[in-house]
Amino acid sequence: MKRDVIVALDFSTREETLVFLDCFTNRKPYVKVGMELFYAQGIDIIREIKRRGHQVFLDLKLHDIPNTVKKSMKVLAGLDIDMVNVHAAGTSAMMQAAVEGLAAGCLHGKRPLLIAVTQLTSTSQQQLKEDLLIDKPIKDVVAHYAQRAKQAGLDGIVCSPLESGVIHHLHGDEFLTITPGIRFAEKGNDDQIRITSPAQAKALGSNYIVVGRPITQAADPVAVYHRCIEEFV
Ligand code: C5P
Repeated sequence: MKRDVIVALDFSTREETLVFLDCFTNRKPYVKVGMELFYAQGIDIIREIKRRGHQVFLDLKLHDIPNTVKKSMKVLAGLDIDMVNVHAAGTSAMMQAAVEGLAAGCLHGKRPLLIAVTQLTSTSQQQLKEDLLIDKPIKDVVAHYAQRAKQAGLDGIVCSPLESGVIHHLHGDEFLTITPGIRFAEKGNDDQIRITSPAQAKALGSNYIVVGRPITQAADPVAVYHRCIEEFV
C-alpha cells in the first residue's frame, strides 16, 4: 500500500518557507501548499519547491462551475504538481471536468493525483443540518461523496484517519485516503478534534498523513518528521 508523510507548509512568506525546507538535507519531504502560501507567493513558490526536488500537493480545494474548474485545472497541471483537490460538493459534473482539465494540461503524460474534499473536518453534524440542510449522518455523506468522486475518476479523498478503514472497505485499497488531524499522544490537539498518531493512522489504513504544526512548530522539525516517517511509512 502506498504511504507517505506530507508536511503542510502553512507559511505566508517565501523566506520562512525556504529556510524551513533548507533544514531537510537527507530526505526531501512531500509538501502541501495551501491557500495561505499560494495566495501570498503565487506560482513562483511552487516552481522553486519543485526545483528543489519536493513532491507538491496543491491544496486549493476548487469549487466552481465545471467549465471554470476544467480550465483552472489545465493551468495547475502545467505547474508539474503531484496532487491537487476539489470539493466533492461541486457535483460529479464538476469533478469529471476537473479530471479532463488535468489530463489536458499535464506534463510528461503524468496526470497529478486528484483528490476530493468530502465534508471539512471542521463541519459539525449540527452545521450540516442547519447550514447546509443535509439531514444524513456525516459518515454517510462522506461515504456517498467518496463514491461519487470515485465514479467521476478521482484518485481518492481527504478524510479523518478514523474513516480510512471504511473508505478502503467500500472503495478498495487503490482509492487513496489523505488524512490530516495527526498528533502525538503527549502533545495537544490545537484546533483539530478527531486526531490520531501516525502509528494509529497507519494501522487504520491511511495512505498519506498531512502533518502541519507538530512538525513546523517543533524545536527540531527534522527529528519530528523522521519520527512520523518511522511510525507511518
Ligand atoms: O497543523 P495541522 O497538522 O493541524 O495542519 C493540518 C493541515 O491539513 C492544514 O494545512 C489544514 O489546512 C489541512 N486540512 C485539515 N483538515 C481538512 C483538510 C485540510 O486540517 N479536512
